Amino acid sequence: MTPDQIAQVRSSFAKVAPIAEPAATLFYGRLFEIAPEVRGLFKADMAEQGRKLMTTLAVVVNGLDNLPALMPAVNALARKHVGYGVTAAHYVPVGAALLWTLEQGLGEAFTPEVRDGWTQAYTTLSGAMIAAAEASPAAAS
Ligand code: HEM
Repeated sequence: MTPDQIAQVRSSFAKVAPIAEPAATLFYGRLFEIAPEVRGLFKADMAEQGRKLMTTLAVVVNGLDNLPALMPAVNALARKHVGYGVTAAHYVPVGAALLWTLEQGLGEAFTPEVRDGWTQAYTTLSGAMIAAAEASPAAAS
């Protein structure tokens, strides 16, 4: 990612952070609308799940300029996801729901540059999670 894309992602996430709870609700609502088949994978309380998702996104957004440092945590998260029954294909609707949520939350501040930055960030993160899941699937359970 370019320094400019990282800056776009950070400043836009700072605008969403104060509305993290409704943003998470919007996100899961959209996800289950476009990919109803993943609804059954979620067993936990969705409010708690939404908080975990936003906290993790904050850590990732913070660490975008030093991705190697994030890799141990990303690998562990990826293996957990294999255990939840998440497949590589599931990362597509999750990415779409994330971008849609940002667009709803940011309104006009969701510029093409912001979209590009988030697309790049999610592609990098999901690519790393999928690769880690494929590298050690046996560690899933
Ligand atoms: C880059 C993308 C993703 C991030 C940052 C992320 C983040 C997280 C985090 C932080 C947790 C909680 C883990 C814990 O409790 O220790 C979690 C759980 C979970 N995630 Fe993800 N996730 C991502 C992608 C996905 C995808 C693609 C799916 C597929 C639908 C998915 C489905 C789930 C499920 C089913 C759980 C467990 C919920 C439960 O305990 O009931 N996640 N995720």
